[in-house]
Amino acid sequence: MIDVKNIREDFPALFELKDGRPIIYCDSACMSLKPKPVIQALMDYYTKYTACAGRSPHMYSRETTKRYEDAREKTANFINAKNSSEVVWTKNTTEALNLGSMILKLDGSEIIITTSESHNSNIVKWMFLENAGKIKLKVLDAGKTGICSLDALTEAVNECTPGKFLVSLAQVSNVTAGIIDVPAIAKIIHEREGIFQLDAAQSFPHMPIDVQKLDVDLMGVSMHKACGPSCGFLWGKYHILEKLHPLILGGETVSDVKIPNTIKMLPPPAKFEAGLQNYAGVIGAGAAIDYLDSIGMENLHQHEIALSRVMLDGLQEFGDALSFLGPSKAEERAALAAINLKGVNPHEVAILLDDMYNIFLRSGYHCTHAFHHSLNLDQGTLRPSWYLYNTEEEVKTFIDALREIMDTLS
Ligand SMILES: Cc1ncc(COP(=O)(O)O)c(C=O)c1O
Repeated sequence: MIDVKNIREDFPALFELKDGRPIIYCDSACMSLKPKPVIQALMDYYTKYTACAGRSPHMYSRETTKRYEDAREKTANFINAKNSSEVVWTKNTTEALNLGSMILKLDGSEIIITTSESHNSNIVKWMFLENAGKIKLKVLDAGKTGICSLDALTEAVNECTPGKFLVSLAQVSNVTAGIIDVPAIAKIIHEREGIFQLDAAQSFPHMPIDVQKLDVDLMGVSMHKACGPSCGFLWGKYHILEKLHPLILGGETVSDVKIPNTIKMLPPPAKFEAGLQNYAGVIGAGAAIDYLDSIGMENLHQHEIALSRVMLDGLQEFGDALSFLGPSKAEERAALAAINLKGVNPHEVAILLDDMYNIFLRSGYHCTHAFHHSLNLDQGTLRPSWYLYNTEEEVKTFIDALREIMDTLS
């Protein structure tokens, strides 16, 4: 198990007071807090060697290049990628998944399969492309667990022409917290020569990820949900990255340009990283990887299961006054819950939790409008999401506060 007391000391934002009283932060599925080594890495970049990478010959630029590429190497090792060239820095998961979609021919013949609980970053683009006649979209029902059945997926895949489809799924849903069986799904997809793109925004921060064992083809991650600064990455099998078209073009993507119209593209990952980059963010991401590695992802995951258990036990006690989406066992879900408060507005509760109890969480659709509408949760849900720095006592305090608010409002 992890030493939460010591870990908490690493996160200065946990010790900020609001109205002279401590806070409870349970909005990590949106944005995680940052540990001191990450903050220090950002400070160092801005105070000691601010420069661009891979261009200028001076010492600051050499230092930036080294740390930027070190971060790529660390990330590749962390996810057991075959090579650091398989890691492409992006702004976030959204950009990574958009970049992944550039593997498509967009001639109207390809099918994209996703599920109803998909985050907007994994459904809006597909809807947009379908509206433009460039793809056909199949949205499978994820039910209340957020996990569509393997039979339904197999059936959908078998209806596709071999090699002419892409399946894009979240490993962990940000509303149901359900965890899908990625290797089993990869097998189904690859048997019919499809491409499997994984949205790992809610899994990468919380559990060990081994891309070779998962056997996906493309994967999007947001480092800001994993103790890092605002940035993310797309990981892809190298032969797929070689075929992938860039989303943005410009400086660093080419080895040479001549007039008339002659461009020589660089190989991945350089061909995707156009213009000056978020160097501080990437270097900070490297520090976040070191930090998570020092704790151990399996240890972190077990801690979150313990937090989840306390939350689920607490929520059960409300009986019919509320319901929550997703699997009922802590081992089968992530440490978050989208809670439907019967007859009570979740936004009102979120504001009261902030105002009266200094508990910070999120209410609304959590960028899964389609899923909330499909379940008639048109008011949205209340979502606490816990991370390595949260304690079981904090979860219990949240449950007690929620009970007091519900008693007052209902
Ligand atoms: C499951 C899932 N996918 C994708 C995203 C998009 O992440 P970002 O906004 O960092 O691009 C999120 C963000 O909450 C998410 O929860």
